[in-house]
Amino acid sequence: MARITAGVACSHIPALGVAVDFDKTGEDYWAPAFAGFDWTRKWEEQEKPDVVILVYNDHATAFDMKFIPTFAIGCAESFTPADEGWGPRQVPVVEGHPDLAWHIAQSAILDEFDMTIINEMEVDHGLTVPLSMMFGKVDKWPCRVIPLAVNVVTYPPPSGNRCWSLGEAIRRAVESYPEDLNVQVWGTGGMSHQLQGPRAGLINREWDNRFLDQLSGSTDALRYIPHIEYLRETGSEGIEMVMWLIMRGAMGQTTEQLHRHYHVPASNTAVGHIVLRPVPDAEASGEGVGAAA
Ligand code: DHB
Ligand code: FE
Repeated sequence: MARITAGVACSHIPALGVAVDFDKTGEDYWAPAFAGFDWTRKWEEQEKPDVVILVYNDHATAFDMKFIPTFAIGCAESFTPADEGWGPRQVPVVEGHPDLAWHIAQSAILDEFDMTIINEMEVDHGLTVPLSMMFGKVDKWPCRVIPLAVNVVTYPPPSGNRCWSLGEAIRRAVESYPEDLNVQVWGTGGMSHQLQGPRAGLINREWDNRFLDQLSGSTDALRYIPHIEYLRETGSEGIEMVMWLIMRGAMGQTTEQLHRHYHVPASNTAVGHIVLRPVPDAEASGEGVGAAA
């Protein structure tokens, strides 16, 4: 059986990708932003996931105003890095996992989540920057990746509650896949940021850190944050954080925080990063082998 073994979340600021590509991660401005990912790169080398379900948003690269799916799953064999205006990033092609992706599409759709199926797509910084943060500069990504694209670009994005529920459906889908696979779910985007208008550069450290706090344990308070609160408290692009709730929903009822990082400044955005472990229900309720003996 396939298993979800961990959840990871991080911002996907394009300039972080530029810093990796042009060997600037050691510079004074970037070093503290990258320092918080050293732990995770080492941890990922030990964890060796087979597949990452990478929840991200397309930034008018593959989709435009002609069509905007709310939730879309990448079922292709591979996904090429997109040209976002400066030529494609010189990062490896992303290898998909069509069989698991189609299984998740079928399971989620029959579970009443109406996913759009993507058979061909280029992927932008929303997907490639998190891969660079977690795996560094490599010739080949060390695992398969299933892109799960969420509309957070045009009103109306899905609610946080719906995103959390989709995460729960993804967990059911993965756990009903017969092959033994080590699967991680990543949520990307955020944290607080506004890229345009009079409030450009808005950062709300207190709000972001409360959000990070509430990703672990068994509270589900985050699923009920209304859109207007993200907008008011975290800026116009802070809504990207609903994608973290798909990751959190896929972890099950209880999580344990393994690692966390928060850094400002990096471009216009607060860099947030967290690594979670799903805590099995028996362990969370204090049952388990030791307690039963
Ligand atoms: C920035 C952050 C984003 O999430 C994004 O998609 C584009 C730009 C930024 O802070 O520069
Ligand atoms: Fe973004």
